[in-house]
Parts: sequence; structure tokens; C-alpha cells
Amino acid sequence: NRILLLNGPNLNLLGKREVDVYGQFTLNDIETEVNKVAKEKGFEVDCVQSNHEGVLIDEIQVAVGKYAGIIFNPAAYTHTSVALLDAIRSVDVPIIEVHISNIHKRETFRQKSITASACVGQIVGLGLAGYRLAFLALVEEIIPYHN
Ligand code: DQA
Repeated sequence: NRILLLNGPNLNLLGKREVDVYGQFTLNDIETEVNKVAKEKGFEVDCVQSNHEGVLIDEIQVAVGKYAGIIFNPAAYTHTSVALLDAIRSVDVPIIEVHISNIHKRETFRQKSITASACVGQIVGLGLAGYRLAFLALVEEIIPYHN
């Protein structure tokens, strides 16, 4: 009963970075919140943030058998990374993509996600709550029916 909370580049700067777009909360706030709901549901959470595409790929590759699901904000790699798409496609682990901001009302280049088609679903624009909702969807609706 273990979940991976995986956050991509620049999300370590939340709370300081473009607060008008991403809000005042920090990465630590996200991790604390997900840990709290996970505990209530009897799940453990491993939290990983990396600015490096390869580290994110490595985490996804080794997730099989280790994690029941992944909550993933690929950040800017969402819009660029075929390598992350291929990694997600390669593992039989349900992944929910989360974006803090509503990427659909931002620049055109953010409106397309390369990675989302390989994920179970995507939550956008709900800020910190998006991570909590992704966790609840995983443990209540997706993991119980997976395989
Ligand atoms: C983001 C949206 C991306 O376009 C951006 O590059 C990020 C954060 C979000 O959570 O809203 O770094 O993934």
C-alpha cells in the first residue's frame, strides 16, 4: 500500500515561484497534505521531486511492484518529453497527472500534454486540492480495480 508522489522541475520553488499562478503553498505543504490523507486511508507515500528528466524516468521505471499508483506533476516536461511518455507507457502502474494551474487557460505551448495520454487521468487548475483529489481517486476508484 505505497504511493509515489512525483514532482518535476521547478516545483521545489513553489511558494516563491510565480505565486500569482501557482499560489503561496510550498512543495512541503503538498507532501504534508498527501501524507495526511494517505495515513487516513492506510497508505504510505514516498515523495520525490527532481529537476532532471532522467531521474523522473528512473523513478517511473522502478515503480512496478513498488507502488500501487503514482501522482505525477511532470511540470514543464509535460509539454516536451516523449521520453517520459514512453516511460509511463512502459509500466503497468496507474498514474494520475496533476497540474496546479489550469494549463488550458495559459500559453498555447502549455495547453498540450505529451504525457497525459498514457495516464489514467489528469487534474488541472485545482491547486493543492488537485493532489489530494488525485490521491483519493487512485485509492478509492483506480487501485481497487487495477488488474
Ligand atoms: C505546471 C504547469 C506547467 O506548464 C509548468 O511548466 C509547471 C507547473 C502546473 O502544475 O501547473 O512547472 O505543471
